[in-house]
Amino acid sequence: MTELEDSKDGNRGREHALGGIGNRHYTGLVEHYRQRLPLAPEARAISLGEGRTPLIRLQNIPGDVGFGGEIYVKYEGLNPTGSFKDRGMTVAVTQAVHAGSRAVICASTGNTSAAAAAYAARAGITAFVLIPDGKVAQGKLAQAVAYGATVVQIRGNFDDAMQLVKELAESSPVTVVNSINPYRLQGQKTAAFEIIEALGRAPDFHCLPVGNAGNITAHWIGYSESAGHSTEACLHCGGECSFTQATSTLKRPRMVGYQAAGSAPFMRGGPVRDPDTVATAIRIGNPQSWSPAWTVQKESDGWFDELTDEEILATQSRLASREGVFCEPASAASLAGALRDIKNGKIADGSTVVCTLTGNGLKDPAVILRGGMPKMTQIDAERSAVERLLTEHLG
Ligand code: F0G
Repeated sequence: MTELEDSKDGNRGREHALGGIGNRHYTGLVEHYRQRLPLAPEARAISLGEGRTPLIRLQNIPGDVGFGGEIYVKYEGLNPTGSFKDRGMTVAVTQAVHAGSRAVICASTGNTSAAAAAYAARAGITAFVLIPDGKVAQGKLAQAVAYGATVVQIRGNFDDAMQLVKELAESSPVTVVNSINPYRLQGQKTAAFEIIEALGRAPDFHCLPVGNAGNITAHWIGYSESAGHSTEACLHCGGECSFTQATSTLKRPRMVGYQAAGSAPFMRGGPVRDPDTVATAIRIGNPQSWSPAWTVQKESDGWFDELTDEEILATQSRLASREGVFCEPASAASLAGALRDIKNGKIADGSTVVCTLTGNGLKDPAVILRGGMPKMTQIDAERSAVERLLTEHLG
């Protein structure tokens, strides 16, 4: 019995127990969206239950900045390995295994390596990950090690690692699972499906952090298919889309991509040699989805912009302390940019805005504790001491 049949059987039992009310167990996005993905019907889903992440409406920050519209954050940090990469990886690894691959390889600033390692473990195949020398958040590194990947640190940055992977893939029996693998973007497009399902329509603006620009491209593919359009940004079909929803009357959002100022090739008009930013996930100087991302900008009437590390970190803290949502620095670039463009009127008051929070804040605790451990109040382990403290703080 396959894993899928096994889990379906489990569901049948549960449905029966619940009187057949159809409480179908969600088994991940490959099964959920199989009709809208380019996978063979018999391909066994390699899944960890990814997708279905919360779309959280911000309750405090819009008022703080005097915005009359709605801001939602799509909290992709709640995927199984803590980032949006799981959406792409479930589809890429499902396809790789179906095609007979025994190993996957990727270059990564951290999150792709965690996802590749986890899905390879799930499938029982080997994962090789090439990471830059330093500047990979500790949580991500710990994940790749825990999932059993072969982790290789190269003396170079992400762009060097990516170049090596591309060269290797031509002659080695390994499947590249970076976003140059079109199945990755096919999986990641499902985030747009979920947003439309949750809102009943597409937002007016969709803001994302941009590194390789795969994710912004994937979202545009998802919105386009849902709205009955093909897009030339899709490298899977190159504009001959077989998944467009013919009856749809949806509008598509304007896509806005934000980069870190020290790693902003889309703002410079070409590759950046020595990219640097505290948002290590997007420390990329030579984006792999360069042309598709410009197509997205053009087709959606969107734009790119850049943020300083200080702006990114300030928004990361603001989101955590005002809304209770903890994302990693790269993710905060989406909201930091949106708030700036709300202030300067590029995003009109009254608009509906979705910001993708690409990764979980727990991935990179060092960035929060960069000034050392916060000074903590120490008191005796006595009831009266605690009571005194409460009185002091509550007035
Ligand atoms: N946010 C996070 C948390 C990321 O990990 C990445 C990319 C991005 C944003 C940018 O997405 O590349 O599709 O534009 N991380 C890759 C990695 C490079 O190796 O984990 P993109």
